[in-house]
Order: sequence, then structure tokens, then C-alpha cells
Amino acid sequence: MSMTPNDWRERYVTTNTPWDLGQAHPELQARIDAGQLAPPREGAKALVPGCGHGHDALALSAAGWCVTGLDCVELVTAAGGLGAGLREALAEGGGGLEICDALGFKGQQEFDLVFEHTFFCAIEPESRPAWGTTVQGALAPGGQLAVLLFPGDKPVEEGGPPHRYGVPDMQEVLGPEFGLTVDEVVSKAVSKRSWQERWVVFSRSAKLGSTS
Ligand SMILES: C[S@@+](CC[C@H](N)C(=O)[O-])C[C@H]1O[C@@H](n2cnc3c(N)ncnc32)[C@H](O)[C@@H]1O
Repeated sequence: MSMTPNDWRERYVTTNTPWDLGQAHPELQARIDAGQLAPPREGAKALVPGCGHGHDALALSAAGWCVTGLDCVELVTAAGGLGAGLREALAEGGGGLEICDALGFKGQQEFDLVFEHTFFCAIEPESRPAWGTTVQGALAPGGQLAVLLFPGDKPVEEGGPPHRYGVPDMQEVLGPEFGLTVDEVVSKAVSKRSWQERWVVFSRSAKLGSTS
């Protein structure tokens, strides 16, 4: 079933958000704590498309990244409410929140990290090339795309969202400038999730136009 921004909003307003962990994904947090996701320099930027309530975005911000979160749903009302404070919290760390279609986001290759968690699986498979274009536009040469890949083994006939996908589906829309550097089953899986979660990292070539 294809989801419109209004459909996503309705899911948040009715708290029908089974994807929301109420905290950063434990695998992301563990890898941050282990120093694997340290910003390469002060002011380094990270992009979190489809950030939802922003738990992962906030964890990366706390780790020192200037995080821009993107979501098609404005979760903050004048009276506070869902997601209140996210924009301000990200701004404090030098980033921000943009309410937009992330598949049309025009980056300037200024992000050193793109973190993807249950956004790729939420879009329709025919929108994946646009996701690839977003990442290509956002990620700096030499930057990293870190992915909490889910659902890795959901039967395809069950459809989505979440839609099953794998590394080849991402590689296809990222192109040859992106090389797979990590692909492993997470050690901090979310117990309520029925399907496999993997930690995947693609590194973008430092010299664009080259594949090495
Ligand atoms: C399954 S939720 C995941 C949210 C968040 N990553 C998390 O793990 O809690 C997918 C999110 O993507 C957002 N979304 C869906 N399509 C979008 C689009 N085209 N542009 C921006 N955000 C979108 C939804 O509003 C929702 O917050």
C-alpha cells in the first residue's frame, strides 16, 4: 500500500507507529558508544532522511554531528505535542529539521554521513531510484552511508511497507561510486521485530568519477 504524507501523519497522530523504538536503535547507539561513528571533524554534517521522532538523529547529534533530519510529517504543533523540541534540539547541535519530501531533497554533497533506518523500506520500490539520487546529492566524496537494514528476510509476497530489500537493491540505485564496506547481522536486534536486521555501510569514493 502506497503511503501519502497524510497517511504517515495519521499514523503518528493515532500512535500507530510500530517502527518507533522510543529511543535510538540499540545497534546505532552501541556503535556510537564504541566510537565507530565519530564525526571526522568539528562541524561535520549528518543527514537522517525519514527521521520520524528523531531518536537516531538526536543520538548522532549527541555524538557531535550537526544533524539534519528530514521528514514529510510536521510532528510539532504550536502547543507542543508529538516530536516537540526536535527542531530546537537538532539546531542546538548545529543542524536542523526540514519538513519536505526527502526524495526531492537537493543536497550539495555536504554531508559526511547519511544514516538510513526504516526509510528505504517505507517507500515504494519504484521510488528507490529517487532515494539513490537523494543520497548521491547529499553525501560528500569519501562520506559514509550507514544503514540499519530491515526487513532483510521478510517474505516478498507479504508486500509492505515495510518492503523487504537487500544490499543489491541499494547498490543498484547508489551506483558504482558506492562500495560496500560492512554487511553484518546486528548484535543489538530489536526484540519486537520479526525480521532480520543488518548493519550495512557503503563508502563513497573520495574521488568522484572514479570507483576506487
Ligand atoms: C517507518 S518510519 C521510520 C521513522 C524513523 N526512521 C524511525 O526509525 O523511527 C518512515 C518515516 O519516513 C517518513 N517519510 C515517508 N515518506 C517520506 C518522504 N517521501 N519524505 C520524507 N519523509 C518520508 C514518514 O513520515 C516516517 O516518519
